[in-house]
Amino acid sequence: PTIRYYAPGGVLFEIEGRIGDSVMETGVKNGVPGIVAECGGACSCATCHVYVDEASLELVGAPDDLEDDMLEGTASERLPNSRLSCQLRIQADFNGFTVHVAPEQI
Ligand code: FES
Repeated sequence: PTIRYYAPGGVLFEIEGRIGDSVMETGVKNGVPGIVAECGGACSCATCHVYVDEASLELVGAPDDLEDDMLEGTASERLPNSRLSCQLRIQADFNGFTVHVAPEQI
């Protein structure tokens, strides 16, 4: 499925993702700027913060308790559509899944 990332500043990256990979690792591997991912995907740094596009929100459930706690510490403002991209696993129906990378991660 094609995952769409708007980098800070608005440049769009469209990347063919693999089912089961995280939105974070797929973006980092393919050079999407702005995803820091200091902890490497362990849900303990909050530097992989993205805003899920409104149209894509229905594809993801709510964050679990650990992610919810970590989202309280994001550098950019937490919004209702804030998620940690390392906790978003690409599913078969994610074609066109769109995120906006948070402007500040640290
Ligand atoms: Fe650290 Fe996502 S990479 S919380």
